[in-house]
Amino acid sequence: MQKSGVGITITQHILNQQRQYPEATGAFTNLLNELIVAAKVISREVNKAGLVDILGSTGEINIQEEQVQKLDVFANRVIIERMQHIGELCCMGSEEVADLINIPSQYPKGNYILLFDPLDGSSNIDVNVSIGTIFSIYRRTNEGSDEVLLDEVLQRGIKQVAAGYFIYGSSTIMVYTTGNGTGVHGFTLYPSVGEFLLSHENIKIPEKGKIYSVNEGNYNYWDEKTRALVDYFKAKDKETGRPYTSRYVGSLVADFHRNLLKGGIFMYPADLKDPKKPHGKLRLMVEANPLAMVVQEAGGYASDGQGPILEVEPKELHQRTPLFIGSKRDVELAEEFISGKRS
Ligand code: AHG
Ligand code: MN
Ligand code: MN
Repeated sequence: MQKSGVGITITQHILNQQRQYPEATGAFTNLLNELIVAAKVISREVNKAGLVDILGSTGEINIQEEQVQKLDVFANRVIIERMQHIGELCCMGSEEVADLINIPSQYPKGNYILLFDPLDGSSNIDVNVSIGTIFSIYRRTNEGSDEVLLDEVLQRGIKQVAAGYFIYGSSTIMVYTTGNGTGVHGFTLYPSVGEFLLSHENIKIPEKGKIYSVNEGNYNYWDEKTRALVDYFKAKDKETGRPYTSRYVGSLVADFHRNLLKGGIFMYPADLKDPKKPHGKLRLMVEANPLAMVVQEAGGYASDGQGPILEVEPKELHQRTPLFIGSKRDVELAEEFISGKRS
């Protein structure tokens, strides 16, 4: 049976949502539409990555001291160039850029802030495994002012007005939410037509899953609580559906998307591998917060092990955080282990 509205274009869907807010100016719709164009350009480039001489690293190191791949640079540039001129943003923040990205003075400014991970899972580019783009949108807090301060950007995840991701996989899919009960919706790109069509209406994550996703190679870098948690998922117990099965792609968007649809938990815990990164690898503002908003709207939960990700007060743009995200009951259980309430 066909679900209501399945097959409508994303543009139509955004416009339908906008109509529910008579006070809406269209600014947000304009912003999202332009972001979709950027993602289509990135998707096209990702799809032909094996055909053209774009593979391999540029030899540069990004500000997080990780190897930058050419497609990261490309995706970062496409998003900045497309988004800076539309007049809806006051600034941007990217995983690939150390400081806030200002809107050049020749363009009009708006009241939204766009934070993004231009290409997530970049170690998978060369091996044809799913990668993605993650985005997070806030309203600025000081609308009158000419200058945008970092303080305006460092808002808790709960303040996001929209968040989502594009996954460049067997198909290109966009998943996004504007929160507040509007639901999480997925749109699949119909490549020859160039349109995203509604394919996953009102996604709900199962309350409990059967999958755990974690880089278990880090086991010996974890503390005892984290080891106990992962041991728990692997232990045999018929009543609680254990052992769970393990799935780990190594692209957060891909691991997250699978667990969103099937249920389960993704974890990137704190580890002792690199003393410079005591909070694990993932970034609060461009990875954890947007996916936390999506998962919460879908009925799931995201925690840093102590409490909700969406309540964390950010102190810096590139702050890292441990992340436990997915089915509500699985993540609550993880939180009990990590916060020491259970062992
Ligand atoms: P990015 O490619 O944007 O730097 O992010 C990579 C992240 C994330 O996508 C993934 O979950 C994680 O790195 C995998 O890390 P490990 O290789 O340490 O498991
Ligand atoms: Mn990433
Ligand atoms: Mn990235």
